[in-house]
Amino acid sequence: MSKIVVVGSVSMDLVMETNRVAEQGETVFGERFSMVPGGKGANQAVALGRLQTEEDQVSMLGAVGNDSFGPILLENLKKNQVIADHVGTVPLSSGIAQITIYNNDNRIIYCPGANGQVSTQKWQKEWDVLEAADMVVLQNEVPHEVNLSIARFCKEKGVKVLYNPAPARSTDLEMLDFVDFITPNEHECQELFPDKSLKDVVASYSNKLIVTLGTKGSIFHDEEELQEIPAIPAQAVDTTGAGDTFNAGLAYAISKGLKIKEALAFATIASQLSVQKFGAQGGMPYLKEMKEHPKYEKNLHFE
Ligand code: RIB
Repeated sequence: MSKIVVVGSVSMDLVMETNRVAEQGETVFGERFSMVPGGKGANQAVALGRLQTEEDQVSMLGAVGNDSFGPILLENLKKNQVIADHVGTVPLSSGIAQITIYNNDNRIIYCPGANGQVSTQKWQKEWDVLEAADMVVLQNEVPHEVNLSIARFCKEKGVKVLYNPAPARSTDLEMLDFVDFITPNEHECQELFPDKSLKDVVASYSNKLIVTLGTKGSIFHDEEELQEIPAIPAQAVDTTGAGDTFNAGLAYAISKGLKIKEALAFATIASQLSVQKFGAQGGMPYLKEMKEHPKYEKNLHFE
């Protein structure tokens, strides 16, 4: 059994697909508009909810607004087997991500709303939920102080933390000593360690720093050598949420006892499946789909 707790953002994604991006002062026609649940935290929780077996558990801690999006976002978590008892409702608008899909890639403007109000100050039962977890997953769409106090608490209690520093912020380095895994992409890694080469950085944090490289896969250092896990080519429909699916796959596989390299192979399959459908959560796979994937090998299997 694995118990994972995700603390983070729960947002509504307002997605415009377009063949042209507007210049300053210009209006252009978009191709299609959609409104789909998102937020890095909720995306990771939903991906976990779909990957998990009946005996596993994923809980989400966070906040939605008291607007019309709040109940929809909560319902979406529950529909995906995420325990949302500790997702509060605050008197603000829910988090919103305005996403433009252009040229097979996305540009995102994120407004935290309720996510910016997440605070550990009045937590009581929430600490018990964290203490009972096998793994806690954090990202950067809630305030840094929240992440830092949780990471410190988990370190003290011996609970593993996977920290996805996205989007990057200047305070991220403060988290390093308290987390077990940190998973920046190439750009976030450069912001974290501007003076070091990618290879030097991963070598300095072996078995802890995992860098995702988009279509080039991911890398980490296993104390002996650099390990490179290639991406699996895909006909991408929408890459939004691919990183979230990857982080969820990694957290899940590690919590189930896989070694980092195998866990990364598992995460790579999950993210490859996720980009083949529209929406951050649209393509997130269920465990059954993972097992049917041609790259799913025996060494990835766990009960
Ligand atoms: O990682 C993708 C997510 O980040 C989107 O769902 C959107 O909510 C953004 O903030």
